[in-house]
Amino acid sequence: LTVQVNKPGAPVSKNMYGLFFEDINFAADGGLYPELVKNKSFEIQGQHFIGWNAIRGAAALQAYTVSSDKPISATNNHFARLTVATASPDAGITNEGFRGMGVKQDAEYTFSVYLRRGAGNVSGLTVTLEEEGPRGPGPEVGSSGRMLAQTQLTGLTGEWKKYTAVLKSSGMANKARLKLTVNGTGTVDIDVVSLFPKDTWNKRANGLRTDLVQLLKDMQPGFLRFPGGCIVEGRTLAERYQWKETIGEVNSRVPLINRWNMEFRHRSTPDYYQSFGLGFFEYFQLSEDIGAEPVPILNVGMACQFNSSELAPLTTAAGGPSASEATGHNHADDPTLETFIQDALDLVEFANGPASSPWGAKRVAMGHPAPFNLKYIGIGNEQWGPQYLERYEPFAKAVKAKYPGINIVSSAGPAPEGDLFDKATNRLRELKAEVIDEHYYASPEWFRNNAGRYDNYPTTGSKIFAGEYAAQTVGIASPDNKNSWDTAISEAAFMTGLERNADKVVMASYAPMLAHVDAWQWTPNMIWFDNLRSYGTPNYYVQKLYALNKGTTMLPVQRADNGKNGQDNLFSSAVADDKTGEIVVKLVNYSPTARPVAINLQGAKKLGKTGKATVLTSNDLNAVNSLDQPLNVAPKEESFKVGAANVTYTLAPHSFTVLRIPGK
Ligand code: AHR
Repeated sequence: LTVQVNKPGAPVSKNMYGLFFEDINFAADGGLYPELVKNKSFEIQGQHFIGWNAIRGAAALQAYTVSSDKPISATNNHFARLTVATASPDAGITNEGFRGMGVKQDAEYTFSVYLRRGAGNVSGLTVTLEEEGPRGPGPEVGSSGRMLAQTQLTGLTGEWKKYTAVLKSSGMANKARLKLTVNGTGTVDIDVVSLFPKDTWNKRANGLRTDLVQLLKDMQPGFLRFPGGCIVEGRTLAERYQWKETIGEVNSRVPLINRWNMEFRHRSTPDYYQSFGLGFFEYFQLSEDIGAEPVPILNVGMACQFNSSELAPLTTAAGGPSASEATGHNHADDPTLETFIQDALDLVEFANGPASSPWGAKRVAMGHPAPFNLKYIGIGNEQWGPQYLERYEPFAKAVKAKYPGINIVSSAGPAPEGDLFDKATNRLRELKAEVIDEHYYASPEWFRNNAGRYDNYPTTGSKIFAGEYAAQTVGIASPDNKNSWDTAISEAAFMTGLERNADKVVMASYAPMLAHVDAWQWTPNMIWFDNLRSYGTPNYYVQKLYALNKGTTMLPVQRADNGKNGQDNLFSSAVADDKTGEIVVKLVNYSPTARPVAINLQGAKKLGKTGKATVLTSNDLNAVNSLDQPLNVAPKEESFKVGAANVTYTLAPHSFTVLRIPGK
């Protein structure tokens, strides 16, 4: 191989490798957002007791109902009313958490609740954190297991009042639950029940789960794209993600059904709602915490095209219906496209506006006086075709007119429905879209065969955002996909093609990012977790190695035989890192035998004597990482000798290797 050190190519985008976040697989509630109580405010429409259960054998509990009789506020207007006839330690309800609650030994959890005493003689509430005992055949919860912490709340009055206590867990449990039992007899009203770990990222009161943020930060991501994914669109427009509903006082955020709420074999998650405890303010804050550029993706006025054809009506100059409205499904009371556009304009103001602006003031009130420095806005998640273009065009025009400095991320859709190389995308190029986001999920073989995907894409005009991709072992949407070494090494091979085309591809993110081992709807995923532990998959380590070694300038690589990248299962790309004064070469050997490579560093000056190799490999293409074996496939480092103007290095079988060579 020859790396043309003396013929540097395009600069590598400083946001090149980033993160795709979607609240799928319990990524937010039950994952990154560590509130342990599910449905804490009893506000889930039609299912006010999701997550809550009467204690087994609780004959003493005469009734537990949802009420809206003099609620805490107009938005938080349902609560639980418990009526106890006979005093008993079983008179109460439990909260199951998100497939249980994960608690650590000696860790502290802030418990809070609003209580109001009704008729009778209720003297207080006993709050217990415990493991759940064995379950019976019925719907009621099992008996009490090991007690982990307990506190008493007293002094209830006839008015709503907030009570707080710190629970320190005496043991570790992956599946604890919270038990609230009534002391005495009579009626008590309960609302906004929260159990929140004190140990959060940056010790914030409404902070995030530390081990998961650490895994993300360790990747040094260039950007964080949020909040999805299909949840941006919703199955229907009414169920779309609306960022304005996710900011401000946490307890006033009204839950919404999640697009991934589904009943399907073991992926069954009919209890999947978004609490929005992790909302847009928190996403911006997370981006800042991990040094990533925030990339919010907004609804363009279309529901998910895989689920429905619901469209926001366009307001045309003539006032009549557009071509798509004539065929699409519309409701008279649907918000028009203008509402969606206004939401985008207001978002820029929320993120960047001064305290004197209406939306900027809301950010300041939430505790962030400095602007978030938003530079990107995505218009539509995964949309394609004429109905998208019809909405995208006025949308983009309005954003640019008010905020010319904002970069717009447009959508090519999912290949093959939408594609970077199809007619609709050409139109986006004509419209001078800055960045076009395309998505693809395909076999490992497809990834290896398509390392040249962008080789013939024009070097001028719209740039590319590979916004969602992942190799799938079985097939898209199959529950049996694995995060195998085969998928990861194939993605590494493909990514040499992203790097070689640094003048065209400016952003890339693997998807989805997070998955709970007991509550997922999609495979494969980059990071898996349970209620206490988490691990990066081999795919995570591939992404991380690219991000940590992205360098600053692309360097052309040629094969001695003039073969194409990937020929004989050898893939390569190179960059210069001007910050550290190193040449960085990435090599993928997708063959079962070791392979010596001779690398000529053409025109290199001042080479150091020793380089550092980081190697990711396994002798089993089916190898995976797991909660018990998180580092089964993980990078290992070694040093190697550097010659006068060259390097010889033997690549391990089925390996991805990053060589860092001092010099320029
Ligand atoms: O990443 C999972 C889903 O795949 C996303 O929600 C959607 O954008 C794509 O179809």
